Amino acid sequence: MRLAPTLVALALVATACPSNSDPDASADTTARAAETTLLSDGAATTEDTDPPQTTDDEPDEGLDVIGEPGADTVGDPLFPQAGNGGYDVLHYRLELDTTGPELVGFATIEALATQDLSSLNLDLVGMTVDEARIDGQVVPTEREGRELTLLAVAPIVESSIITIEVDYHGEPQPVPDPAFPTILGWIEEPWGSYVAAEPLGAATWFPGNDHPLDKATFEIIVTVESGEIAAGPGLLVDQQDGPDGTTFTWLMDDPMATYLASVVVGDFTITTSEVQSEGRETPIVLRDVLPTSQSDQILRVIEGRHEAMIAEFEKLFGPYPYDSYGVVGVPESLGYALENQTLSLFGADSLASDSLFIEQIQAHELAHQWFGNHVSPATWDDIWLNEGFASWADLYWIGVVTGQDQFQRTAGTFDSNSLGPLTDLQPSEMFNTNVYIRGALTLEALRRTEGDDAFFELMRAWTTTYGGSSASTDDFLALVGEWMSADAVSLARSWIEDEQMPRLPGA
Ligand code: TRP
Ligand code: ZN
Repeated sequence: MRLAPTLVALALVATACPSNSDPDASADTTARAAETTLLSDGAATTEDTDPPQTTDDEPDEGLDVIGEPGADTVGDPLFPQAGNGGYDVLHYRLELDTTGPELVGFATIEALATQDLSSLNLDLVGMTVDEARIDGQVVPTEREGRELTLLAVAPIVESSIITIEVDYHGEPQPVPDPAFPTILGWIEEPWGSYVAAEPLGAATWFPGNDHPLDKATFEIIVTVESGEIAAGPGLLVDQQDGPDGTTFTWLMDDPMATYLASVVVGDFTITTSEVQSEGRETPIVLRDVLPTSQSDQILRVIEGRHEAMIAEFEKLFGPYPYDSYGVVGVPESLGYALENQTLSLFGADSLASDSLFIEQIQAHELAHQWFGNHVSPATWDDIWLNEGFASWADLYWIGVVTGQDQFQRTAGTFDSNSLGPLTDLQPSEMFNTNVYIRGALTLEALRRTEGDDAFFELMRAWTTTYGGSSASTDDFLALVGEWMSADAVSLARSWIEDEQMPRLPGA
């Protein structure tokens, strides 16, 4: 039994703690964790001499188990079912076999316990769990909705690092999109599979802490039939032919939110090049993953675009945050694009069409790598920090290409009553036009009021302060106060909160 006040308290704590996704933190905590474990073993021994009080009705929990259940939520205002508390994931190793009739997965999750845990939850939708282990010991599990509960059989002590393993299989069950009439998650098609997960689809293909507050590094290892390829985020670090097919290992060694993790499987060609940008010490590996039959034609259309965009955005926002970038074009008419980390998802048909509109969307998804991916939203109600920023960048890019002020034009297209406030959203409103356009104009209003120098310093301070982590609307307003002025804060506040959209200065 869980008491509601405990849950709320845990949720608040989880929300208040900045997500610890810094892999360097692991080393510090290991020594302390070892110490704590020793101490707690001592305590457990002493306890053993006392007769157990309340364990009779909890046969699953051994005598050594300590602490409380980890929360089944991080307390997100839009999605109370999203994420969990009591631990912080450091690394996911996801081994997937797509060669059989069902998806077979082995997930290994390294996590830092942020409290003494008698049980912990992962988010998982559908799939059958075959076995779960904590630190190598098989543990009992329970399922309810999106919640997979692992019951501890040995002490899990605050500040220790634990290894959680989940073996699972099944036919992935995509979930309804809260905002669009479509489905999200691991999606199977006659030609192969792909992942489109934002916001809650990640749990359809791996167990995890499915909330952008808890970012982690990822190793994604996918076995596919010979002749197919599997692509994922980051760099291809290994490719092996075996008796069952080909195994691809993709490594994302920068923190990634679960909703941005992706895989694509099918008859694709990967085309790789490198670009050395001015702002970075190491080159960026550019790799596009395109249907083999359309690859050459699409590459001719998009040739050089991402290099040019990266060069421009690095001047404005600071160094490109990852070691790789590229697009995947799936042989589907998607009608949308999605900023999966380092591997933005498009329909191949849209990439093949040489239009300014698609170029604008390419700029948008690239800009998300800074805004949304590197700096992630602390809650889903902060989604304008993704979409407004990426929309500002795509309008800016089209301004560069056309030589015409796109902000002026866009502000004239919408009357102030049609674009409501940016926060206090319903799930269905997350990706509405106001979040994109009023969000972009919020930034442009700050730029016009405070000037280019102050504005771009703010944008770079945003990526350096919160890159690799998550930030909220209040964090943004605080940074505006730090880098601009009290007037700028109240201007930003009315752009974010007022019922009516303010007028764009100078428009
Ligand atoms: N973030 C996407 C964009 O603006 C939009 C989006 C939200 C989306 N949820 C999605 C796209 C799910 C595909 C699937 O670029
Ligand atoms: Zn977007």
